[in-house]
Amino acid sequence: MAEGSYRVLSERPEDEDALDIVNCRGFRRMSEAHLVRNIREYCPGFDRRYSVVAWGGDDVIGHVLFTPVDIRLMRETVRALLVGPVVVLPEQRRRGVGGAMLRFGHDLGRHDGFEVAFLAGIPSYYPQFGYKACYGFGKITIDTASLPAPTRELEPWPVQPADIEWLVDRHAAEWSDVDFACVRGASMGEWTMPGVEALVWRTSDGRRAAYTLGATEGKLEMLLADDPVLARVVLATVRPSELGLHPNGWFARHVLDEAWGVARADRSDAAMACELREGALQPYLAAVDEGTRLPGRPNWVLPFVLC
Ligand SMILES: CC(C)(COP(=O)(O)OP(=O)(O)OC[C@H]1O[C@@H](n2cnc3c(N)ncnc32)[C@H](O)[C@@H]1OP(=O)(O)O)[C@@H](O)C(=O)NCCC(=O)NCCS
Repeated sequence: MAEGSYRVLSERPEDEDALDIVNCRGFRRMSEAHLVRNIREYCPGFDRRYSVVAWGGDDVIGHVLFTPVDIRLMRETVRALLVGPVVVLPEQRRRGVGGAMLRFGHDLGRHDGFEVAFLAGIPSYYPQFGYKACYGFGKITIDTASLPAPTRELEPWPVQPADIEWLVDRHAAEWSDVDFACVRGASMGEWTMPGVEALVWRTSDGRRAAYTLGATEGKLEMLLADDPVLARVVLATVRPSELGLHPNGWFARHVLDEAWGVARADRSDAAMACELREGALQPYLAAVDEGTRLPGRPNWVLPFVLC
């Protein structure tokens, strides 16, 4: 696609270094360049065709990464594109480059049968390309002072291949009824990667008590379990002040005690989605507006947990 004096194309293997530079200069830090590299390596859905690159002559001037993921929407599994990072070099902004890359990705996604694209981003930028505030960042807040002391000792283990079947099953139990939650599969890279704190907590007789993901500044991105008693022991051991879980999940329904925690589901202006198939979001949005459905929340693909 040619537009003005720039062109928009899919990524090629030899573009990787140039994309590091664009993401680093555009965001003034390295974390988005690392994110892109980690998505390439750890997300099974990654496909270079949906990694959209803008060229000005022989130079890369912008990048939008669309990552194919399956998400839950109204208790169904839907093919979606997770959008981000979105970046244009500072000196190339306000020439329509960002918009041209977004439209290129949407057209490709529409053609390939994806139903929605979703992102967390600047609320004043994306609506012109069809995005609307759609979901939120619901969470569970824990009053750690009111948690009891752990009643037994648990040991953290690294995630191992033998854990995967249990993880996929527990993930489905936690997230199946949460809109915009990504479905996780059996590839190891969906559960652990260097730099993230992904643990399987075990009892002294080897039983799995829970999988926990990340614990920076007291926040656990995820906690998956199948026994409410053991899940409470994990909570009393890790003592997070916040859990990235949703009121519709297994944890909120079977483990949460109102004496020490509150589950909320809010809608946020920054949490936006756009229809690639006409009407794809309509039943969900109508249900949220009527109050018969709580706003969903994504459980980001693993590399996003690092940012
Ligand atoms: C956001 C960004 C990708 C926009 O790229 P761009 O190529 O300049 O965007 P476009 O030229 O397609 O913008 C089209 C319109 O969007 C609006 N717009 C552009 N940047 C905007 C911004 N940062 N916030 C709000 N609106 C913006 C303008 O109205 C613009 O039209 P105009 O130039 O005729 O006024 C770019 O500013 C960038 O890389 N920022 C730093 C990284 C970043 O924050 N990424 C987004 C994270 S969610």
